[in-house]
Amino acid sequence: MRYLPCLLLWVFPWVWGQSEDQLENFPLRCLQISSFLNSSCWRTDGLAWLGDVQTHRWSNASALSFLKPWSRGKFSDQQWEKLQHIFQVYRTSFTRDIQELVKMLPSMHYPIEIQLSAGCVLHSGNTSESFCHIAFQGQHVMSFQGTSFQKAPDAPPGTELAIKVLNSDQGTMETIQQLLNYTCPQGVRGLIEAGKAELEKQEKPVAWLSSGLSPRHGHLQLVCHVFGFYPKPVWVMWMQGEQEQNSTQRGDTLPNADGTWYLRATVDVEAGEEAGLACRVKHSSLGGQDIILYWGGRHSSVAIIVPAVLIIGVLVLGSCFMLIYRRRRSYQDIL
Ligand SMILES: *[C@@H]1O[C@H](CO)[C@@H](O)[C@H](O)[C@H]1NC(C)=O
Ligand SMILES: *[C@@H]1O[C@H](CO)[C@@H](O)[C@H](O)[C@H]1NC(C)=O
Ligand SMILES: *[C@@H]1O[C@H](CO)[C@@H](O)[C@H](O)[C@H]1NC(C)=O
Ligand SMILES: *[C@@H]1O[C@H](CO)[C@@H](O)[C@H](O)[C@H]1NC(C)=O
Ligand SMILES: *[C@@H]1O[C@H](CO)[C@@H](O)[C@H](O)[C@H]1NC(C)=O
Repeated sequence: MRYLPCLLLWVFPWVWGQSEDQLENFPLRCLQISSFLNSSCWRTDGLAWLGDVQTHRWSNASALSFLKPWSRGKFSDQQWEKLQHIFQVYRTSFTRDIQELVKMLPSMHYPIEIQLSAGCVLHSGNTSESFCHIAFQGQHVMSFQGTSFQKAPDAPPGTELAIKVLNSDQGTMETIQQLLNYTCPQGVRGLIEAGKAELEKQEKPVAWLSSGLSPRHGHLQLVCHVFGFYPKPVWVMWMQGEQEQNSTQRGDTLPNADGTWYLRATVDVEAGEEAGLACRVKHSSLGGQDIILYWGGRHSSVAIIVPAVLIIGVLVLGSCFMLIYRRRRSYQDIL
């Protein structure tokens, strides 16, 4: 029982939802967009995101750009050189393959839009999962599975032939497997390590309320603005006491120029029914102390909760130190 305070101190950060499984919050997603206007005019651009952070960019004729100081991850110069080379070869052969396919397949004509989404996510226990999907004219047509491309359900006729051509290129199939099975997970591990400080940063949201015009006659729209938070996941809900107002409408989470996020949550109420409504915000940066803003200005009791949590923290820490100090002393007594 004497160890209970220490146990609590160890358990608290877990209960409060930090570091649970950070790895899965940072999938690497690479997007490629290729537009072929006709047989001689085409371009290919690319983007890479680690979780919600854009890390790399690739604009048609230029080389890969690193958008963060840590975008090189933990790859050595030699490994980067090899990757850039694979990249160049890929760019040339991809374009050639598409142009060849258009000649072979009567169902394929210009203009052509091809999107490719590939990447991987790490799981705990040094395992990972990779993916590679291709869309043609905005429709998902194939995915890489294990060792080759497979047709997506509902892919248009003609896809089989394209897949057959792609899969018969043994060299490319092996390169894709190498990239998906080994290079990607290794790269993500390096990026998470190199970008740790930025990826784990916590910025607290600031929230305020305003009213807007409701499209419904005799109704009022209450708007809860949540500004400047990081990371992106956030929970915002209009409440009546402990009752979640499930008519709450969340907008899209929008980026601010400084890398933090902004979100609006609105609720439509009949004029005169807004009394007692409050906007509640939960975010990892708030350490369990939700922001609660009441319509009409009454504030939450966070001011009481903060000192209480601090006092409990100090007490728990204090008793841990006492325990450790006592154990130390008893070891010294033995020695
Ligand atoms: C391809 O499109 C570009 C831009 O519209 C045009 O300038 C060029 O002449 C076209 N080429 C062919 C072969 O149609
Ligand atoms: C894209 O880059 C290639 C060279 O890699 C070039 O031939 C092509 O014209 C470029 N496309 C555009 C639209 O600039
Ligand atoms: C994780 O697995 C990779 C191969 O899949 C291996 O190279 C690496 O050493 C492993 N890392 C740890 C910490 O076990
Ligand atoms: C890559 O992983 C897949 C399973 O996801 C496996 O079938 C394939 O053999 C692996 N390829 C290589 C080269 O390790
Ligand atoms: C909203 O919640 C109430 C109970 O809390 C439930 O009866 C109702 O079906 C929910 N409405 C919607 C649209 O989910």
